[in-house]
This record gives sequence, structure tokens and C-alpha cells, in this order.
Amino acid sequence: MFETLKAAPADAILGLIAEHRNDPRPEKIDLGVGVFRTAEGETPVLDVVKLAEQRLVDTQASKAYIGTAGDPDFNAAMQELTFADSVDADRLVTIQAPGGSGSLRVAASLILRARPNAKVWVSDPTWANHIPLLGGAGLELATHPYYDAKKHVIKVDEMLDTLSKVDKGDIVLLHACCHNPSGVDPSEDEWRAIADVIVERDLVPFVDMAYQGFARSLTDDAFIVRHLAARVPEMIVSNSCSKNFGLYRDRVGSLSVLAPDQASRDIVNSQMNNVVRTIYSVPPDHGAVVVAMILGDPDLKAAWRVELAEMRGRLREMREMLHDALKTKAPEHDFSHLVRAVGMFCFLGISEEQVNRLKKEYGVYMVGSSRINTAGITAHNVNYLADSIAATL
Ligand SMILES: Cc1ncc(COP(=O)(O)O)c(C=O)c1O
Repeated sequence: MFETLKAAPADAILGLIAEHRNDPRPEKIDLGVGVFRTAEGETPVLDVVKLAEQRLVDTQASKAYIGTAGDPDFNAAMQELTFADSVDADRLVTIQAPGGSGSLRVAASLILRARPNAKVWVSDPTWANHIPLLGGAGLELATHPYYDAKKHVIKVDEMLDTLSKVDKGDIVLLHACCHNPSGVDPSEDEWRAIADVIVERDLVPFVDMAYQGFARSLTDDAFIVRHLAARVPEMIVSNSCSKNFGLYRDRVGSLSVLAPDQASRDIVNSQMNNVVRTIYSVPPDHGAVVVAMILGDPDLKAAWRVELAEMRGRLREMREMLHDALKTKAPEHDFSHLVRAVGMFCFLGISEEQVNRLKKEYGVYMVGSSRINTAGITAHNVNYLADSIAATL
């Protein structure tokens, strides 16, 4: 039977990682990969995660199956982190999921069960995996304008105009913060205007929050989630703990649904758990218990917030450093969008041909759209990076 198959298309980012790995030039720089890195170029386990893991090793009594919804303490803690007191908890349900991707996949099946003909509107551009992940699950996707690649701003008016014309009842996928790939988030006023259209058109917001705490603060980054929760009858929120807890490979995230009332919440809950049973049966436990321990212990939570602020600060600092270096080395070009962006990603704003030259001539790796992961910049490589960029402009 396998003779019917053709090789699947190569994943652009995985291909880039391999090319970078095989590049013998010592000065090479990887700005493609999707993980946080320290000034030493490492992606270490957070200290607070190590502490919680040690406690877990010392106290865990069983590795028997957990239920389809995962760890109740984790779910309660993630719900609190996401919604705070923005809405009556009787209308909310949260389940554990295998990373943000697993959460998005369960949400896709839930949408298909509830409203199979609805379109899901995603930003142009959006995270490269949103389209295959949600589309592959069977959802029909459409795009709304988002990023102006020339001016490096959000096309808010065009976005609002498109959303104001979509069919009532359609779904809108929003990035809560640190929009991937552009790094440009709506201001609070812009978010309010987006929420107005969602309410007017009776759209269902589906918020992907993969970077809570990476843009401004845990609270500020959840602004649109909490603002919408207070205004809409129904909403879906996917969380990932890959970035903000550094638990990438442990696969931990959550899926929350806001329903109009407790009775419909209970029905949604039963459907979500039924979906889980038909895909992966039960979620992985380790990372979720670690997160539950951290969020449930005031000292560990305080220590986590410090480490999170350090990661956020490093990303901001590296963008500023690159911006300052480019100001000196390429003064005729405006790179101010680098410091207006937040989180891990933003577009450098160069052509695909220039991206290829950077790779070939200087060993500087980024995806073809010129999206860069600022965590790949260090005080040590920033001058070489800015020189290379200036030379290719
Ligand atoms: C916007 C967005 N959503 C979801 C995810 C999924 O994260 P996870 O690794 O937890 O599956 C990512 C990861 O890069 C992302 O950028």
C-alpha cells in the first residue's frame, strides 16, 4: 500500500535547521528556529522547572492513566492565568492538551462538531502551521488582511472591513500576543474595535495564546482574552506552555471554552473529552504537573515570573541592539519596526533574494519571508549580523 505515497513536502524550518547545522562557518547565525535562546545560545530548562521536577520525582506516587481532561489542578491554574476574574467560572471549561498544537487540534474537531460549515478566518500572514493544522483537521479557512509588509504596521481598517462582511457565526482566529510571524499586536484600542466587530457580527473568537508573558506582562498579554470574555457569549482559547515555561518537548498546553451558561458549558465539556478520547485518549502528564506545581506555589510562581521577565527582557534588548547596530551600519534604511515588535518573532523586511544571499554569503539563516527569531541574536554576534544585513541591502 505504501507504494501509493509520495514523499511529503519538506518542512521549511526543519530544513533550515539542518542546513545551519551542516554549515561549517563558525560565525553562522540561526534566526530561523522557533525556541527561546539565552545569550549563550542555549535553550535551558528553567530553574523553577528543575525545582518543581525534583519535587515531582520525590513525591509522585503513580504514573497510572489520568483522565481525558488531564490534571484538574493544572486546568484550574491555567484557567485562572488565562481569564483571571473576567468572567463567571461556571461558563468556563479548561482541559489539558499536548501543547498548543494539540489544543488547536482538539478545538478544530470541536468546531467541526458544533458548526461544520463555519469558516475560520486567520490573519494574513499567520503562524505557518495554523493552516495545515486546522485545515488538515477539516476546517475551511479564509484570510483577513493583517500585516502591511511595507509599512510594518497592522492593516487595522482593512482587517475590520473584512471581518465586518464575513458571515455571521464564522470563527475568527486571533493571536493574543506576540503575533507570529510579524511580532506586531493590535493596541488596546485596536483590540476593542476588533471586539466590537466580533460582537456586531456574532462571530466566535478563537484565541491562540502561545506566548503569554513574552510581550508585556502576563496580565497585559491576556488583554484581548479577558476583554472578549466579558463581552461575548462563546469563545475558544488555546494556550501553550512551550515558550513561557520552556517545556517545548514535554507537550503541555490547555484548551478553554467559554459557553453561554453552565448547562451548555457541561455539554461542550463532554464533547471536548469525547474528541480527546478519539485522538490521543489522554494527554501527557509530566509537564502539566510541573506547571500546576509552579502556579500553585506562591514561591515557585514568583520565581517563574522572574525567569519569564528575564526572557522577555532579553528579546527586547536584542531587538534594540540590532536596531541600533543597523542605524549605524545602514543609516539610509529604517528598521524602527524591529523595536516596535514584541516577543520572539518579527520580519526583518528584506526580500527573499536578500535572505538567500545572507545565508549563502554570510551563514545567516532565516525563513524566506525574512521572519527572524530575535532569540538567535547575541551581544557577540549582533555586529556581524548587522554588517551582513547592511552588505546585502
Ligand atoms: C502562534 C502559535 N500557536 C501555537 C503554537 C504551538 O506551540 P506548541 O509547541 O505548544 O504546540 C506555536 C508554536 O510555535 C505558535 O507560534
